[in-house]
Amino acid sequence: MEIQHDFSLKNYNTFGIEAKAKKFIAVHSTEELKTVLAQNKNEKKFILGGGSNMLLTQDIEALVIHIDLKGKKVIQENEDSVWIECQAGENWHEFVLWAIEQNFGGLENMSLIPGNVGTTPVQNIGAYGAEMKDSFISCQAVQIENQENKTFIKDECQFGYRESIFKNQVKDQFIITSVVFKLTKRNHKTNTSYGDILTELTKNNITTPTIKEVSNAVISIRKSKLPDPKELGNSGSFFKNPIVSKKEFEKIHLKFPEMKFYDISETEVKVPAGWLIEQAGFKGKRFGDAGIHKNQALVLVNYGNATGQEILAVSKKIQQTIFETFGIQIEAEVNVI
Ligand code: EPU
Repeated sequence: MEIQHDFSLKNYNTFGIEAKAKKFIAVHSTEELKTVLAQNKNEKKFILGGGSNMLLTQDIEALVIHIDLKGKKVIQENEDSVWIECQAGENWHEFVLWAIEQNFGGLENMSLIPGNVGTTPVQNIGAYGAEMKDSFISCQAVQIENQENKTFIKDECQFGYRESIFKNQVKDQFIITSVVFKLTKRNHKTNTSYGDILTELTKNNITTPTIKEVSNAVISIRKSKLPDPKELGNSGSFFKNPIVSKKEFEKIHLKFPEMKFYDISETEVKVPAGWLIEQAGFKGKRFGDAGIHKNQALVLVNYGNATGQEILAVSKKIQQTIFETFGIQIEAEVNVI
């Protein structure tokens, strides 16, 4: 455990942005984490997980603590279910693949989402009709201020669409060190209702898919739409899908009858931001090394040497055009640092 100075974060953020940490340290256990926190009480700190949901627009003038805790174990089981505790620094997709190999069901729709396990509760990751909260039981965290352990059970976490207590009331106060998931051992409830999955399975003549087959379908869909960060820097969906009141939406829909939307409550609809961005003509556009992906307009990409500021400028241009065109405000899902 050693503090490094002026450390390049290029390989620690999936956008592949060159930015430096004034000080950097990787911790491999909860004890190491507590020691670093206690020894650097008065330093400004920045917690870094998988770096898959952030845009670095400047160097970080703080002590960057990289959470690199590894390991997973079964902590409880019965005939139907298994409870697994997974350490925060495990790669999410590798964890999903491991679960599928053991025939543990529940995570398959979230295959190939970038990032680490410890950050999945923060924004309640989700894809293809599943959300992390559906399998979440609890997580362990360390309080930064006093290094005490705290368990957050599901009811406390206030999970919502890409939302949780960790982004709101307790933001920057806790570091998640492990997560407990409850998965199925048999009678898996595969969820194939999301259009693209059904199409993909049908294409392969699969009618009653195994969890492995659902995972393969998701992997294949994601690969066709979403760029691999190892090949093209990106952070997944850059924007959230905006939620608009039905009253407001009725007016907008009159002007744009072809606009897609999903009912989410009695009073609100969700509009796919990808559709708005595509209609506004941004899909596949490139501004220097910053651009909008050609297959999924929600994803901003770094073609090589884009700076965070350049990507931020593109995102602002998109937000402004969408607002001027449709009167809808779209919000970044990615944390802009
Ligand atoms: N669409 C377009 N043009 C585009 C992209 C999408 O018209 O360039 C339309 C599609 O035709 C479709 C609708 O928008 O009618 C929704 O598209 P899609 O199913 O691809 O999903 P999304 O709403 O664009 C969300 C998540 C993704 C997740 C997919 C699949 C958010 C912000 N994004 O995208 O999550 O993989 O659903 O479940 O909710 C991520 O968070 O990083 C991420 C990739």
